[in-house]
Amino acid sequence: MNAQNEIQVTSHQLEVVKSMEGFVGEHLDSLLMKVEESWQPSDYLPDLTAENWIEQLTDFRKSAAALSDEVLVVLVGDMVTEEALPTYQTWLNRLQGVTDQTGASPSPWAQWSRGWTSEENRHGDLLNKYLYLTGRVDMRSVETTIHHLINNGFDPHTENDPYLGFVYTSFQERATKISHRNVGVLAKRAGEDHLHKICCMIAGDEARHEKAYKLFMAKIFELDPAKAVLAFAKMMKSKIAMPAMLMDDGKDKKLYSKFSLVAQKVGVYTAKDYAEIIGTLVSDWKVEGLTGISGASAKAQEYLCGLSERYLKLAERMSFSGVEKFSWLYDREIALTTIG
Ligand SMILES: [Fe+2]
Ligand SMILES: [Fe+2]
Repeated sequence: MNAQNEIQVTSHQLEVVKSMEGFVGEHLDSLLMKVEESWQPSDYLPDLTAENWIEQLTDFRKSAAALSDEVLVVLVGDMVTEEALPTYQTWLNRLQGVTDQTGASPSPWAQWSRGWTSEENRHGDLLNKYLYLTGRVDMRSVETTIHHLINNGFDPHTENDPYLGFVYTSFQERATKISHRNVGVLAKRAGEDHLHKICCMIAGDEARHEKAYKLFMAKIFELDPAKAVLAFAKMMKSKIAMPAMLMDDGKDKKLYSKFSLVAQKVGVYTAKDYAEIIGTLVSDWKVEGLTGISGASAKAQEYLCGLSERYLKLAERMSFSGVEKFSWLYDREIALTTIG
């Protein structure tokens, strides 16, 4: 571990996180689904063991044929993001005080980390199989993108600090919830009910995970408000980087920014959403009402309270244009014009 990263987290922070073990343990049952009660990817896919599997598959592919190229691109981007789960579990296990010491530790933090990972694992699995069965995208190019992404890794600038880490995950889970939900809306509009259902199920998990991370961070705000508000401001200043920003299909160096623009164009995840998420976190963690903080922490509080508004103004001015090709779609072109 990097020595510089070691000194970022104070012993007080470690004590706070350690002291939360009982709290996390008490909430595990409501924040994670029991395996027996969980959905699995095969619940939402054609049953290839059924006698009428050809009919099921034909119907499935017929409704998937209605999806636009834009929806396919955002869906591939979301799937690729989910498929880089090994990167995120590795990252979560680096957060100090949260680490799963043995790999099968009974500590509440370790149980959360494995429970979260196992639930998330179904997301990439389901979307990958869905896209494969639709026959609408170049799977080899998509798989190459996943391969590169996991190989490239991801640094969310959280410095192994659990405070920064839980601000990041609170933001990120809400962002993925919004993104999956909106792909579901577009699928429904296109008459593709399978994908609509799939996206709703995944967005439901993301919503529960968002609730969990926001709860952990709310507790940190309660136990250590001065440091918590500093961590929140620090993450916002360095901007929340999306976990798949190092995606690469081996050909196109601008792949991630092109995918982001398509998501912005069709309203799946936009600059306005970014601003809205900041506003939600500021309000959920009652940042405006924090008392008894001073100096840098008070300044961070002031900065955070006006931040969502500032990003909203920037979002209103956002515009782009052009036409881009995607290897995921056999190099078909998508117009990247601002809508609205
Ligand atoms: Fe997910
Ligand atoms: Fe998630």
